[in-house]
Amino acid sequence: MNNNFEPEIIAYCCHYCAFAAADLAGTMRLEYPTSVKIIKLPCSGKVELIHLLKPFEDGADGVFVAGCLEGNCHYLRGNIRTKKRVNYVKSLLKEIGIEPERVEMFNMSSSMGPEFARVANEMTEKVRAMGPNPVKLKGEEVVK
Ligand code: FES
Repeated sequence: MNNNFEPEIIAYCCHYCAFAAADLAGTMRLEYPTSVKIIKLPCSGKVELIHLLKPFEDGADGVFVAGCLEGNCHYLRGNIRTKKRVNYVKSLLKEIGIEPERVEMFNMSSSMGPEFARVANEMTEKVRAMGPNPVKLKGEEVVK
């Protein structure tokens, strides 16, 4: 495996918790890879199936959703609905031969800056061990 491989990870973050936690991680000067690209949403419940799948088509190597702790969603059940969508996308990825672990859901509060840094690092390491997104590799073969 290429040790220089830096996985591109898309992180959908709820404004109320995970985005604030990511901000706190920055304030605390906790390190996490710059290749984790944060997309801020009003609630993790805004993440639809297409948002979980399209990044792979566009070349991302992993996707995670970070929402409020269960029971603390400001829109009541947004994080629970998205957890189901994440699990469904995992089953779809598995069916088409892509590691389901490339998609994950995490829950945290706004005060959990260290937790945000931990999951961003953990996700990056896990995806690095898996290697580049196979869809991206197939695309490269077509271009050659
Ligand atoms: Fe944070 Fe819904 S408001 S997950």
